[in-house]
Amino acid sequence: MPAPAAAELKELALRRARLMEAIGRDGVAIIPAAREVVRNRDVHYKFRQDSDFWYLTGFNEPEAMAVLAPGRAEGAFLLFVRERNKEREIWDGRRAGPEGAVADYGADQAFVVGDLANMLPGLLAGRGKVYYTLGEHPEWDVRITACVREIREVSRRGPAAPTEFVSLDTSLHELRLVKTEAELALLRHACGVSARAHVRAMRSTTPGRWEWQVAAEIHNEFENHQMEPGYGSIVGGGHNSCILHYKENEAQLRDGDLLLIDAGGEYHGYTADITRSFPVNGRFSGAQKAVYEVVLAAQLAAIAELRPGNSSGRPHEVATRVLTEGMVALGLLKGDPDELIKTEQHRRFYMHGTGHWLGLDVHDVGRYKLDGQPRPFVPGMVMTVEPGLYIAPDSEGVDPRFLGIGIRIEDDVLITERGPEVLTGGVPKRVADIEALMAS
Ligand code: GLY
Ligand code: MN
Ligand code: MN
Repeated sequence: MPAPAAAELKELALRRARLMEAIGRDGVAIIPAAREVVRNRDVHYKFRQDSDFWYLTGFNEPEAMAVLAPGRAEGAFLLFVRERNKEREIWDGRRAGPEGAVADYGADQAFVVGDLANMLPGLLAGRGKVYYTLGEHPEWDVRITACVREIREVSRRGPAAPTEFVSLDTSLHELRLVKTEAELALLRHACGVSARAHVRAMRSTTPGRWEWQVAAEIHNEFENHQMEPGYGSIVGGGHNSCILHYKENEAQLRDGDLLLIDAGGEYHGYTADITRSFPVNGRFSGAQKAVYEVVLAAQLAAIAELRPGNSSGRPHEVATRVLTEGMVALGLLKGDPDELIKTEQHRRFYMHGTGHWLGLDVHDVGRYKLDGQPRPFVPGMVMTVEPGLYIAPDSEGVDPRFLGIGIRIEDDVLITERGPEVLTGGVPKRVADIEALMAS
């Protein structure tokens, strides 16, 4: 990943400034980079930067740490990074080093990461609050808490030790929850390419193909746009569509079955999250269509609720109601929908939530509740809307025509002053549109 361009550097500086404004001069923020993770023996998984660190630095190397110390005389933004190493760079790739961290990433000061232990007491002393999320990076937890203890031991003679560790949930994650225009441009791109990947998957699906072949169509589309899956792709045909986190993608697709695909590509860290469910042979059966229309109606009704000022709990309430009424109409459940919802009987076929925040993480950060209540939507939030119905093949007391049908429809929606903006509208979801696409 190349160093950020001038406009990106400006955006990154703005994010840091906002965070520093939120934490104030009494605070200091410590944000570690992600570590490399061993896949097997001496092979690593592809490196993926920590989303918080990426959001604030645009720096894509492991073994690094960002420190934000508002008001610090020598500069508030410090980066601790790997040192340059000719030998290692020949084997493993380029490193920015402290010079590059300053010149190309806008750090006020940068040091090799080995200097952090020595410098940390000076950076923390005299600050009341350390904004650092304990429990996420155990190796850093030990060093940082040891540093606070060290300051405490000498604090009778010098500056006071911090008294509080504060997680980044209420500061940084609140910023990440409301996307900037620059973030939305990246997310729109990720959503656009991902929608095209789903279209390609629909077009390439026929009886006899394998789930992994359809996954390959999607992943090829991502890679052709310098993207990769933002999470493990789910490509589940037939009964596999009823397994919510099916990830084997190993079965052959059969005539008459549905295929559920949940896949989204990640671009510059921002991921789409799209699900479509469609017939392997291009034509919905009567039973498939009946269930599908219920899920689609629930999804459209839920999307309409993504408006500024509305409670973020509304989409789930509305989707649950439409689904439950539909389940009663289809004979899957019996009774009064209100009562069925109150007693959670709808969970037999709809057992997950209707959406989540989306951004740098597929299940993105940001609190869902404020003061115990679902928070209101504001423009710039992005949420998925993904109702579904899953009628497991061994469900008892169900019309056999419905057994083994799993349907989810998922789009990514931006909340705007003008109303909900569906970012993933490029892939059809109406029955007639899907059938027309698959016939073309
Ligand atoms: N793909 C993960 C989810 O839909 O939440
Ligand atoms: Mn999904
Ligand atoms: Mn989702």
